[in-house]
Amino acid sequence: MFHMGWFMGTGFGVYNWNQRWSGNVGSDVGNPQLFIDMATSLERAGFDYMMMEDSSVLPNVHGGTFESSVKSGGTIRFDPIPLVPLLTNATRHIGIVATISTSFYHPFMAARLFSTLDHITEGRVGMNLVTSSNKSAMQNYGLKDLIPHDERYDRANEWVDVVKALWDSWDEDAVLMDEAQGVFADHTKVHTVDFEGKYYRSRGPLNTIPGPQRHPVICQAGGSDVGRQFGARNADTIIAAVKGVEEMKAYRDDITARREALGLDPNGVKVLYLVSPIMADSKGEAEAKDQAMKDATAANIDAQVAGFSYFTSTDWSKFDYDAPFPDLSKNEGHQSTMNDWARSGATIREAVMNHRTQESVRLVGTPESVAQEMEEHMDYAGGDGYLIAMPVTRKNITEIADGLAPALRQRGVIRPSYDKATFRENLLAY
Ligand SMILES: Cc1cc2nc3c(=O)[nH]c(=O)nc-3n(C[C@H](O)[C@H](O)[C@H](O)COP(=O)(O)O)c2cc1C
Repeated sequence: MFHMGWFMGTGFGVYNWNQRWSGNVGSDVGNPQLFIDMATSLERAGFDYMMMEDSSVLPNVHGGTFESSVKSGGTIRFDPIPLVPLLTNATRHIGIVATISTSFYHPFMAARLFSTLDHITEGRVGMNLVTSSNKSAMQNYGLKDLIPHDERYDRANEWVDVVKALWDSWDEDAVLMDEAQGVFADHTKVHTVDFEGKYYRSRGPLNTIPGPQRHPVICQAGGSDVGRQFGARNADTIIAAVKGVEEMKAYRDDITARREALGLDPNGVKVLYLVSPIMADSKGEAEAKDQAMKDATAANIDAQVAGFSYFTSTDWSKFDYDAPFPDLSKNEGHQSTMNDWARSGATIREAVMNHRTQESVRLVGTPESVAQEMEEHMDYAGGDGYLIAMPVTRKNITEIADGLAPALRQRGVIRPSYDKATFRENLLAY
């Protein structure tokens, strides 16, 4: 069996607002109901988690204006964290992962916030750790410039150490709740952490008590060398944005090797691959749908290239879209993504058209044929599951929850039910 998640690529944002099947856009934007419906549907489907992307910036790098950000609405983000308890309140099993930036949250704030959420959600919260790769976002928090790529990961490793030390600042048996003796907790089992690192200091202990998971699930997606090392060391689940089954396999093998070198159990982290299945009642219809989506992308290429400007903090509107993809592999933003495209030797236009970032393998067909391919690819790659990356519309959710998931379940490759109490336990159950 493998695990399933959904990557909400524009977080608590604006999905498909002027497209077909986007529902009641006016009232859905900023309203939690769409995401509550999504959580209940994905729980019906047996999903492990929903992961909400996030960022703290309205970019104006592309063309030097806010036009590409504001006109499409694509970079508008509400803070995803207040959504978490609303989603878990409407469900009983599914895990909810919210993104936070190790560069912007002090570890004490993050440890306390996610410990609190662990209680509120009864053990179903996770944090997606990002280091943030955008200069304007850094400036929003008062920093002058982008912290260099590898240093961000150095800081992030230390950040995780502080957060985990704070989560462990109460021993397992510290809370007594002894009503007869009037002792809530044993003070000898609560400790300062006195963390003094290169980047962070924290005294501790936390003034919350440990939640049901004790350590909320940690998710991570950076694919550069230091990004993978960070994921192997700290994450419980890793999102792999790769191309093709060979890269899927290589990614899982790489994480296994890194975990073993660190003396950690390779099975203690679940590697999920991004996919965007295109499904219809027949293979032919699905192919036509895929072509229509490609045509729509071709007609709106500037919107896609604006995404590259954002990822790299470089104005791509100045580049010739029909020239080879520039070598920005050492940019201080998203390194692995840019390397992939530069390596392919394609023009910018071809890269946009042919290299869907959220498609580890192309899945176009009926729910049954797609389910079969997913099983075959996973058998080969040896990974732990897939993360659906599609715009959040009720139609897409239904296709996955009521079309694909039953086909996967029929093949016996996804869970028939949730056996454990917490997100962490369900994720690590197999
Ligand atoms: C599936 C996926 C989800 C991501 N979600 C976020 C996010 O929510 N916020 C963010 O700032 N970066 C996000 N990133 C960016 C990563 O954290 C990382 O910065 C990026 O992949 C580049 O990593 P690298 O420099 O290690 O290659 C995401 C990346 C991927 C592939």
